[in-house]
Amino acid sequence: MTSQFKVSNLTKTFGSNTIVDQLDLDIQDGEFLVLLGPSGCGKTTTLRCIAGLETPEGGSITFKDNTVFDASTRINVPAYKRNIGMVFQSYALWPNMTVRENIRYPLKVRRMKSAIAAGQVETAADMVDCGALLDRYPSQLSGGQQQRVAVARGLVARPDLVLFDEPLSNLDARLRDQVRSQIHQLHQRLGFTAVFVTHDQAEAFALGDRLAIMKAGKIEQYDTPERVYQTPSSDYVAAFIGMANRLELVRRHEGWTTRAGAPVDLDAAGVQGDYISGDTAVGRLRPEDLALHHSLDEVRAGDVGFVGELVTSEYGGRYFDVTVDAGGEQLFVRADAERHGRWLRAATIGSPLVVSFSPTKLRVFPHPDGHVDLQVPVLAQAARSEA
Ligand SMILES: Nc1ncnc2c1ncn2[C@@H]1O[C@H](COP(=O)(O)OP(=O)(O)OP(=O)(O)O)[C@@H](O)[C@H]1O
Ligand SMILES: [Mg+2]
Repeated sequence: MTSQFKVSNLTKTFGSNTIVDQLDLDIQDGEFLVLLGPSGCGKTTTLRCIAGLETPEGGSITFKDNTVFDASTRINVPAYKRNIGMVFQSYALWPNMTVRENIRYPLKVRRMKSAIAAGQVETAADMVDCGALLDRYPSQLSGGQQQRVAVARGLVARPDLVLFDEPLSNLDARLRDQVRSQIHQLHQRLGFTAVFVTHDQAEAFALGDRLAIMKAGKIEQYDTPERVYQTPSSDYVAAFIGMANRLELVRRHEGWTTRAGAPVDLDAAGVQGDYISGDTAVGRLRPEDLALHHSLDEVRAGDVGFVGELVTSEYGGRYFDVTVDAGGEQLFVRADAERHGRWLRAATIGSPLVVSFSPTKLRVFPHPDGHVDLQVPVLAQAARSEA
């Protein structure tokens, strides 16, 4: 596939703060790229630079073979000539224009009279099920309808690239799922190229052909959703995609253990011998990869078991989200409601319980400080050896 769109070395500062830091993106024709990162990491600023609404200090942006921005040669194509569609978080419809006039707006700005004559406005409205709303004003629409009109406006001119800046975050949960699925279907049908910004991992996994996980103005991992899910490249990415359990691991002469001394078989976790150079590491696990037990006897041989106390348990339908304090480590367990519901309903705060995990589920990363504080009470037990 040809590379449709390329951002190289993009740098944007505000005052003395570097907000976008030598960022690279390479987007294929028809690809749906999701930019995922926490609040303030520079997602909107990156989109605004691509759209031509901010002027970066460094780097370049090219569409196919067409350079629209290059700091070194001072090329800076104005926003309205970049053929980009934008859909914002705040729907940003013109309140004094009807739905028809709003959707038509990008065609008028680009002087695409034949597209208007050919009914492209009506087609775009129909695509998002807003064909019956063309003569209404935005104030006469629900939030979900307004956002769908904004999507139609973003796509109507058949732009080279569509930028979405958290377009679903102002919608309630049910509408969010509906509009998300509509955007997904539209992308599969029309095959436009997109950059979609969100800080919601479920949205990112659902929509992205590839994900770019952003941290402080840089891309931390750039990969398919499956690979990001299976093999997050850093502790930061792992935490961001829902591996809420963080265990500090220590290399002792007998092998790797938890802080409290429970042996952890890093070979089983698939960790290459020389990946961790120091004597400390960080392990990450998803709540659904931890199991609950009444006693250590129930922990499978080779698994790592912790004795702990119940902190909270929250009902979630098919599961309970359980927080356990295991000797100062907070562990988060997603426990099957059918299996454990009765027990968890009856359990009171402070009740003893055992948590275990298989080391094969562990993702291990170098420790950011190269240091682990070992001064914690020893409550965790060593995993049972083969009985
Ligand atoms: N015009 C501006 N002047 C000064 N600082 C700015 C400006 N725009 C953004 N910033 C700063 O740049 C940083 C990144 O902002 P940006 O809006 O790109 O973040 P974001 O990743 O989109 O966050 P969110 O998820 O909250 O929308 C923030 O610290 C913000 O305060
Ligand atoms: Mg933003």
